Amino acid sequence: MERENFGSKIGAILAAAGSAVGLGNVWRFPIETGQNGGAAFIIVYVICILVLGLPIMISEFLIGRYTHANTAGAYRILSEGSPWKWVGRLGVFTGWFILCYYSVVGAWTMHYTLLSAINAFYDAPASQYENIFNSFVANPWMPTLWLFFFIAIIHFVITRGVKSGIEKSAKVMMPTLFVITAVLTVCSICLPGASKGVEFLLKPDWSKVDSTVILQAMGQAFFSLSLGMGCLCTYASYFDKKTPLAKSAVNVSIIDTVIAIMAGFIIFPSVFNIGMNPNEVGVGASLTFISLPNVFQQAFGDGTLLAVVFSTLFYFLLFVAALTSAISLHEVATAYVTEEFKMSRKKGASLVTLTILVLGTLCSLSFGPLSGIQLFDRNIFSLFDDFSGMVLLPLGGMLISIFAGWVLDRQLYRDEISNGGDLKTPYFKLLIFSLRYIAPLAIGLVFLDQLGVFNFMK
Ligand code: PHE
Repeated sequence: MERENFGSKIGAILAAAGSAVGLGNVWRFPIETGQNGGAAFIIVYVICILVLGLPIMISEFLIGRYTHANTAGAYRILSEGSPWKWVGRLGVFTGWFILCYYSVVGAWTMHYTLLSAINAFYDAPASQYENIFNSFVANPWMPTLWLFFFIAIIHFVITRGVKSGIEKSAKVMMPTLFVITAVLTVCSICLPGASKGVEFLLKPDWSKVDSTVILQAMGQAFFSLSLGMGCLCTYASYFDKKTPLAKSAVNVSIIDTVIAIMAGFIIFPSVFNIGMNPNEVGVGASLTFISLPNVFQQAFGDGTLLAVVFSTLFYFLLFVAALTSAISLHEVATAYVTEEFKMSRKKGASLVTLTILVLGTLCSLSFGPLSGIQLFDRNIFSLFDDFSGMVLLPLGGMLISIFAGWVLDRQLYRDEISNGGDLKTPYFKLLIFSLRYIAPLAIGLVFLDQLGVFNFMK
């Protein structure tokens, strides 16, 4: 069967950017920045992208485009029977594994979009928001229903194929996401007292930057750019031979970082506007689903049209961001099943969807009926979340950089990033240097650090 490609360069970049821009940009980056030195943190973060992120992203692109195969197939083709083929399989597994819990949060964003739109937060006292969230996620039906809905949308897009599914949806959703982000940023920055929020986010404070913060920036850059597994490699397998790899990687990184910074401009002006302590807003789910709905109601006028519109757009933005990332995760597994087991796309996608439905439901129920099932002090959802973030992604990233730096043929690498000599690559030596020495070492450190936190032996 003929393998599909993306139809245009812009479509390819939007799809890859769609994978990168996700929940991580909103629910982790802004608060990490604010608490860890503002602009100083952003500079450290950008250095992490330049030194580690770009070399690895370019390599993942290269591996995908060169082989024109799913991630497991790609590494197998390039490593000819050596154990390195397992790196590709690990990438597929990681994508599939992340999707199981990531979809659960995607489902929550749908519920919160609806709650915002029907003005359900009107008149709720601040203390009520925690109850609203906790009773929602503990409910055995509602979150599961939304989960099925969320996964059904992913399934629909994936079964339509690369061009008319993934690319077309990215071409609609990514511009939508940019526009909403811009509108929300402007609204938020116009709030009285907004400048304090901007200051919190940007004022450089180098005294806060220590080794822990640097490791945190590295981990965040990794997750946010969708590195260390099969997403970018799979998408790049649909790149045209003329797609400039390095330039595309730079574009994707810029889009991802700009959206992450703008998310901070959406969040903190409102937080300061209502006089809340930014160190008490929390991170992740508690920030997004407990603090922020309350913050937005108060900042824009409880129950007013402005509050309803702002809040609805914010959760819709999160939904779109989560959806494009989830689609990229699903495609990793679908491409793998379809190509390695010679199935039709429909069948392959259905198989993946089915497994995600089952495991996703378990993750979702782990806040309610299954909350008693705990391992290492974590419920099922957190096990999926932490195991992928702390173990699978750093491990994958380390192995990919070693593979690209030490195993891949140097000439092949040079030919591919220069598109057969058409493009100049003055950065080539630096890139290889990072892949060989800096990236594996740095990611190894993140890995060890996180394992310490994870504490399996407890
Ligand atoms: N990059 C996405 C985010 O920022 C998450 C993600 C990780 C998506 C890995 C795909 C692969 O939320």
